[in-house]
Formats: sequence, structure tokens, C-alpha cells
Amino acid sequence: MAFDVEQIRSQFPILSTSVYGKSLVYLDSGATAQKPLCVIERERELYLSTNANIHRGVHHLSDKMTALYEQARKRVCRFIGATKSEQIIFTSGATASINLVAYSWCEKFLQQGDNIVVSQIEHHSNIVPWQLAAQRKGAELRVIPVADNGELILENLDQIIDSRTRVVAVTQASNTLGTEPCLRTIIDMAHSKGAVVLVDGCQGVVHGKVDVTELDCDFYAFSGHKLYAPTGIGVLYGKSELLEAMPPFMGGGDMVDKVTFARTTFAPLPLKFEAGTANFVGAVALGEAIAFLESIDLEGAIAHEQELLRYATERLLSIEGLTIYGTSQCKSPIISFNVAGCDHYDIGMILDKMGIAIRTGHHCAQPVMERFGVNGMCRASLSFYNNFADIDALVAGVERAVRMLR
Ligand code: ALA
Repeated sequence: MAFDVEQIRSQFPILSTSVYGKSLVYLDSGATAQKPLCVIERERELYLSTNANIHRGVHHLSDKMTALYEQARKRVCRFIGATKSEQIIFTSGATASINLVAYSWCEKFLQQGDNIVVSQIEHHSNIVPWQLAAQRKGAELRVIPVADNGELILENLDQIIDSRTRVVAVTQASNTLGTEPCLRTIIDMAHSKGAVVLVDGCQGVVHGKVDVTELDCDFYAFSGHKLYAPTGIGVLYGKSELLEAMPPFMGGGDMVDKVTFARTTFAPLPLKFEAGTANFVGAVALGEAIAFLESIDLEGAIAHEQELLRYATERLLSIEGLTIYGTSQCKSPIISFNVAGCDHYDIGMILDKMGIAIRTGHHCAQPVMERFGVNGMCRASLSFYNNFADIDALVAGVERAVRMLR
């Protein structure tokens, strides 16, 4: 049976709303995804009936919320193919997850003269934490370059990654170009040189099945809000032996075993890395978002996204002077473009007045802008809840914007 996009859309209340009296056309899911009703209701219900701090009370609500939180951890664990729930650390988002590794792992294992490798298509969250770590330790930051079509250039990978490489941090899918790099090649090369690999799964986990065990990455980070869950919740997966060996990142309640003024011992995984009151409502709501994803035809959804990508690419390219950045073979449903003679920001503003939401600017990936010689791009990022009418509206909107701006 064909993927039923209208049935899916009916579960996302915001998609039936209007902006400036025009039906909303939401094409900014790469920035944050809309939420299905079940997630919104789950969050509301938790505050109405179960709210209590976790791992702290002996009372009924605390016990219940703690159990729900730990169930959510197990659900995340299964969803990404991890083998033990202790490998799943709840954070506030992918940025916090990456910073955790960049501080904690690098604190212990990165030394002067070592190097960290990132790619040229990373967004700032997967560049700046490593740059800071490199600066702290006197290490070098190296970059895997990108070709004109958005694919990473891997020919010289065995020189970029060498025996002094300690970490390779790479995206599963570029938030700007959509490129899905060949992780197998990068991970195998990194491991052959003794480096650990962090995969930034922000844009990857939302567009395909993930199995961190099969991938054999050492760390995997993603945000809940891009995966149809609320903001303020994210995940760090790490191999147990690596997480065990790492020092705590933040100190506070819940991450300790015994505290005295002389000395503190720490809680076992995963709590060692969950200082302070966790976003327990967000974690349970993330579990609900995953349950939602497991309840739909996910394969059909991903195929639908790829159909939309093909259709949008073909239709947008029919606009004179329009350039699409990122045309790699394996590509997430993200289309960044500019139109000759028109400013990306102006196009975005005009589309907005038609009820069409896209992202404009540097997309938190300034090195990508520099590489392609622009100061910004328009970006339409798709989800399985988009339909062909959304793409038609985008194309008609861009055509109209171009007529007005030229
Ligand atoms: N990284 C997010 C984006 O791509 C915010 O829009």
C-alpha cells in the first residue's frame, strides 16, 4: 500500500494552520520538526498526572516518572541499535552531546601534537567544540574537503587521518547540502589509525534507520526536536568502555555516588553524565515520538521523502538562474539554493508572506558558505509530512519572488 501522506499530515495539527491567512507550507524541518498530536498530548498528560523529579523520591509519582524515564532510555537504545541502555545519555540536545565528548574525552585522551578531523560540511555544533578542545590541548584541527557536488573528497583520507588523529567527527547528513557521506570508509579508516569516531546524527536519524552497533561508530549524537519530539532533549550514544573511561563532564546532583568535602565518587553509567535535574518530561516525550515513528510505515515515509526530493529538485531547476548546492548521489531531503540576481533573504521574506517557511542565511554552517562562495542560501528541508502540493507552492513562490526581485 502506498504511503498515506494525508493520513500522516492529519496527525500534525500545526500543518492545518494558516500564516497571514495562507495555509502553512512548512519546509524548515531541518531546523526543527513539527510534533504529532500524540507527542503533544503525552507531554501535557505528564504534567497533568505524573510530574515529579526522577531518581530522588520514594513517593508514587517520583517512582512512576523514574520508570517512564528509564523506559524511554530503553526505547532510544533499541531505536538506534545500541546494545545496553547505559550507553544512552540524555542531554539537552546534539550540541550538548558533542560538547560532552569534546570536553570529557578530549580532557583525558587528547594531547599536544594530536589532531582532530572534521569535515568541511559540518554545522557549527560539530566544529566549534572540537576547535575549542584543540585550542585547549594544543592539538590541530584538520578538515576533510568537499567537492563541488557536495560529496566529501576521500582520496587523501589516509593522509588527513593519521597516527596522531584521536577523534574524527563527521555528519551523517549535511544540514545544508544534504550529503550523506560514506561513513563506512571514514569509520574504518579512523579505526585503522586508532582514532574514535563521533557521528553527528542530527539530520541522519530523521531520514533513515540507524544502527550504531552495525555502523561501529564510537559516539552518536542527535537532538529530539528534529525527530518530532520537544525541544531541550537530546541523546549521546557512546560505547560503554569509552564512556566508562571518560571523566564526568558536569558536576551536580544525580551524577554522584558519595560526596564529601574531601572527595566525591560518581554514579555508574549513564547517570555519571546526567548532572542536575534531567529533562525527564522531554525524554518520555522523545520515547513517544519514537513510538510514533515505529507505528508508521517508516520505509514508505523515507521513500516518500526521496520522491519529494527528486520532484522538488527537478521543478526548482526549471527556474532560470537557480543553483542547487549539493547534488550528491546519497542525499537527505534537503535542498539549498540561490537564484542569480536575488538575495536569499529577500526570497525567504517573500515566501514567508505566502505562508511558506524555509530557512535563509548561513544555516549554522559558515564554512560551507565560504566553500561555495556565498554568504547565504535558501534552504527547503523536507519531512515525510510534506506533500507534492507543498513543493508546487514552493516553486510557484520562488518564481513569484524572482519576478518581484528582478
Ligand atoms: N542545525 C539546525 C539547522 O540546520 C539548526 O537549521
